[in-house]
Amino acid sequence: MTAIEDEVQRRRTFAIISHPDAGKTTLTEKLLLFGGAIQLAGAVKARGEVRRARSDWMKVEQERGISVASSVMSYEYAGRAFNLLDTPGHEDFSEDTYRTLTAVDSAVMVIDAAKGIEEQTRKLFEVCRLRDVPIITFINKLDREGQDPFDLLDEIEQTLALDVTPASWPIGMGRDFLGCYDLFNDRLALMAKGAKGSLPTPGERCEGLDDPKLDKMLPADAVAKLRGDVEMVRGLCPAFDAEAYRAGTMTPVFFGSAVNNFGVRELLEGVAHLAPSPRPQPTTTRDIQPTEDKVTGFVFKIQANMDPKHRDRIAFVRLCSGPFRRGMKLFHVRTGKQMNMHNPVMFLARERELAEEAFAGDIMGVPNHGQLRIGDTLSEGENLRVTGIPSFAPEMLQKVRPKDPLRAKHLGRALQQIAEEGAARVFKPIMGADWIVGVVGPLQFEVLADRIRTEFDVPVLFESTALYTARWVTAEDPLVLKKFLDGNQASLAEDHDGDPVFLARNAWHLDRAAEDFPLIVFHKTKEQA
Ligand code: G4P
Repeated sequence: MTAIEDEVQRRRTFAIISHPDAGKTTLTEKLLLFGGAIQLAGAVKARGEVRRARSDWMKVEQERGISVASSVMSYEYAGRAFNLLDTPGHEDFSEDTYRTLTAVDSAVMVIDAAKGIEEQTRKLFEVCRLRDVPIITFINKLDREGQDPFDLLDEIEQTLALDVTPASWPIGMGRDFLGCYDLFNDRLALMAKGAKGSLPTPGERCEGLDDPKLDKMLPADAVAKLRGDVEMVRGLCPAFDAEAYRAGTMTPVFFGSAVNNFGVRELLEGVAHLAPSPRPQPTTTRDIQPTEDKVTGFVFKIQANMDPKHRDRIAFVRLCSGPFRRGMKLFHVRTGKQMNMHNPVMFLARERELAEEAFAGDIMGVPNHGQLRIGDTLSEGENLRVTGIPSFAPEMLQKVRPKDPLRAKHLGRALQQIAEEGAARVFKPIMGADWIVGVVGPLQFEVLADRIRTEFDVPVLFESTALYTARWVTAEDPLVLKKFLDGNQASLAEDHDGDPVFLARNAWHLDRAAEDFPLIVFHKTKEQA
């Protein structure tokens, strides 16, 4: 195996998907705890200011005030290098989450044992399914009364149309929860009561479920139930099939209690041994193999500076091939320019140091002044574009104005930043004073109002509009475009880059414009424009 192959093989880039409160934050903390990045554990939960204040360890963050630490958490365990990508939770659920899921090779789905599959889990699962992302399931909170494990497996299978196979089996539940039997490795792990701060031992190796050791370690009724349950579940569920898992049609299910550190080691081992290493990346011209020695990567997320006075931002780049070395220049395919990778942030949680080298599957944070956009490809000169990064047509359009008219300028700046981050589309009508904001889901308006108020100190009002949709307009012949723009001033706006956008009042209005101007192309999304 070459050095590059070796590095690629040991990488696991994944995200955790869950409904709020299922225990994603707790589990993240515990994974980091096991991964040796203990300093971080206990701090992941902090939000907003606390999180920002805490993460000032990284030079780039201090200089630029951008919090990147919590977006990617990298750690090592058992010789594997893990990159755990944070997906925003419920409050700021947005396109960001979808795009983050394009940058991972697998996902862990956390389910609350009492609640089963919830709305957000299902939505995020559907996004994973679009790309056949392999999923490992972790059923959490076994230390509380929850649903019967058989019912939970059945629910996953039925609601998600996914084959399930238990990787471990719980012994008891709630107050009677004793531990789990690891069905993949034949180990019995018992939960030590009151051991929240310490890591549980790997458990006791057994010679299968008939091992008399079990009778010594567990009460008789618990052993009998365990044996009976496992026999039954093995009859009901298919055996683990690595290929089906990697194809995204089967999920192995682990049980545990994140808050008690229980079942986390088994889950981590599961990700280490079952989850795929970085996969080939489709592009407009060919598939990039992760072991190629020329660097390629794509931008899946932009995070703007917390300080609106600066125009710096961080572009998160997922590497598709490498090795990338600090100080390299890369070719920015969209603009055809060489880009100096000024001090990219590469994550290496154990030492909390900037890494010198990165490979396929790794994430780099590249500070820039707005040149990098979501979906952009970087290479060492090859003209290819990574495909498959979803971009969404803004389907809901609302007017936004500051409650205090004197804050209009500040609002403009806030909207500019939000648009550049890719968190929403922002249009400035040629005629009229209000800004128009376009989003994909209604929840985003609330999130935006909240962000603009807290981050930019501009309380705002969103108001509905009679607008139906927005289309970016282009034409091969600049004269044709000019004629269209001149003739449609009342329905035109500019986006944050100053590109023209047609705001249609209804479907008929859009069709009519398209008929009248057959040489104008109406694009649903900016990325294609
Ligand atoms: P999230 O990121 O998915 O939203 O969930 P988070 O980890 O914040 O967990 C949500 C709540 O569930 C927290 O309680 C957390 O302590 C609890 N929790 C997580 N794992 C377990 C578990 O294995 N068993 C039990 N019983 N509870 C668990 P909270 O009261 O909201 O917060 P806190 O005061 O405990 O921090």
